[in-house]
Amino acid sequence: MMVKKAYEMQHRVLIIDDDLAVLNSIRLGLEGQKGFAAITTDDPVRALKMIEEEDISTVVTDVAMPQVNGLTIIKAVRERDEKIPVILITGSSDEWLLREAIHLGVYEFLKKPFSISDFLVTVQQSLETYELRYQNEMYKTQLQRLVSERTTELLQAQIKLQKSYLNTIHAMVNAMEVNDVYTRGHSERVTALAIVLGKELKLNMDELSELRIGALLHDLGKIGVITTVLNKEQSLSEDEYQIIKMHPETGAKILSPIGFADSIIRTIREHHEWFNGAGYPHGLTGEEIHLYARIVSVADSFDAMTSKRLYRENLDYATAAREIYKNREQQFDPQIAKIFYEKRDSILQVLSRPKAWDELLTLDL
Ligand SMILES: [Fe+2]
Repeated sequence: MMVKKAYEMQHRVLIIDDDLAVLNSIRLGLEGQKGFAAITTDDPVRALKMIEEEDISTVVTDVAMPQVNGLTIIKAVRERDEKIPVILITGSSDEWLLREAIHLGVYEFLKKPFSISDFLVTVQQSLETYELRYQNEMYKTQLQRLVSERTTELLQAQIKLQKSYLNTIHAMVNAMEVNDVYTRGHSERVTALAIVLGKELKLNMDELSELRIGALLHDLGKIGVITTVLNKEQSLSEDEYQIIKMHPETGAKILSPIGFADSIIRTIREHHEWFNGAGYPHGLTGEEIHLYARIVSVADSFDAMTSKRLYRENLDYATAAREIYKNREQQFDPQIAKIFYEKRDSILQVLSRPKAWDELLTLDL
């Protein structure tokens, strides 16, 4: 909508008085008057209809009229458009009436008898007030439109950013898994399992979204483990094992400056903690370990047990699921391990349908 400038406004002033003599003398006084057009009526019932239908910038009305009094006129004008000022012509100084009129939002009083110049000054002021209110309203509308446009732009930018952010995460995971030939695809399988488990635990979309990033990046710290240790075919020496054990802390350190949610950093740092406190790096116990890390721990261990390594045989799904259940309370959160075991048939389907778990990695779960 275009904003009308003050000088472009064609003002119309509605004047209501059942006393034809008063109305005629006002009409006479306004002859040749520029700046606004006066429309007059001595019928207050008709006036109510005009208030509803006409384009009006100010209303001047008598108070004491049959059927419809000045206060009713004020109410009707306020209902139609709060910007329109109402000037009340009063013959009495009835205090209750004046208070009521003020309460209803009267703009000004014109006390009978008044001169035409008093009338003109009051009407001019009310028209200026109307213009200010009008422009203020336009300004607000434009501002609201601008805010809503900017919000839409911002949301679109956010979605774009989120997509490129996820692409970066995938690139980081791929970079990490290039070094670790035996665990290729591990992070994505763990993520799929973690999300299905998270859904069983009734996590909401925001939580699942954080859990997904944490799961996808849980082993990122292995980027800092030299390839020879990572891909060693024999059992690890104590020193080598100590190096591997640093990966949760290393991963958390790499990601901390990027501004990830604390829950994501904690998923990475705490995914090797054990429910009984025997894990690493900090020996946390029970619910001290972040829920997402407890979920990832189950998914991670299951995938590790069922993946082939050169130095050991992999377990089948049923045996690995039993291992998870057996180790509830020692290694795993008992509730999560129990759900994993009891719902293993439906949960593990996520691994047998590559497309389905690929879809899980996108935002629309
Ligand atoms: Fe790990």
